[in-house]
Amino acid sequence: MPSFPRRLRVTGHVEIEFMSQVKDETPDMPAAPPQAGRRLHPLPIRVMHWINAIVMLVMITSGWGIYDDDVIIRGLHFSPFWRLGDWAAWSLNWHFAGMWFLGINGLIYLIYGFASGRLREKLLPIRPSDVVRTVIDTLHFKIAHEDITVYNAVQKLLYIVVILAGISQVVTGLAIWKPVQFSGLVWLFGGFQTARVLHFAGMAVIVGFLVVHVALALLVPRTLWAMVTGGPHLAVRSRIRKGHAQRGHAT
Ligand code: HEM
Repeated sequence: MPSFPRRLRVTGHVEIEFMSQVKDETPDMPAAPPQAGRRLHPLPIRVMHWINAIVMLVMITSGWGIYDDDVIIRGLHFSPFWRLGDWAAWSLNWHFAGMWFLGINGLIYLIYGFASGRLREKLLPIRPSDVVRTVIDTLHFKIAHEDITVYNAVQKLLYIVVILAGISQVVTGLAIWKPVQFSGLVWLFGGFQTARVLHFAGMAVIVGFLVVHVALALLVPRTLWAMVTGGPHLAVRSRIRKGHAQRGHAT
């Protein structure tokens, strides 16, 4: 087997093909130093992602503790095993403590994502035809994820949905936490009880996302490892894209 630089071996044959094209078309392009350039998941993203994962678990399980004191769906209770906090007041303490981490961490993620262009680069565009094709492929158990540097259309959609659900949780949470101070928000949601139901529905969306998200991460462990170590370096790929764009190639 020919010996490729490590960066190329990690991301598979697609990138190797690109490399050979670049070599042919632009012989004057200087070679990138090994392991140079930004990584698939830069350090701030990884730190924020794992803080978010822990805080979300705290928010969900403490939320279940609070919910159990005054249920929304009759008959739906969460057993003590799934609840954080021995009783509602303790669950509330956990929820309020976690709320600050969730809000601040989420805000920094959004600012970073917009300022760096990451959110647009990674999550857009989403074409409905790509979503349909990916769903059909997945139903046929074709969940190949050869190039982990690109999210498929369903992933993009799910990430956008969960980011919006996270924002919605903070806003509906504010409305039911301080209904007098945020009476405008309560009015917008159509009353306290509706805001509460929406807060519960947002939790259900996030839990549904988590089940699929964690299952897929375990099915394709390379992605999980990349979220820990940063994953492959992207310098060569982005320069290739730039080169293609300059020469009018569609990438
Ligand atoms: C223990 C639980 C979790 C695990 C094991 C996990 C794992 C991962 C992995 C492996 C990726 C990279 C996917 C890829 O490259 O194909 C990822 C990305 C992502 N995860 Fe999670 N995750 C967890 C919890 C969460 C939670 C709770 C949320 C939000 C509610 C979340 C939201 C996201 C988002 C939005 C991305 C894309 C980030 C970006 O590229 O900017 N994850 N996660």
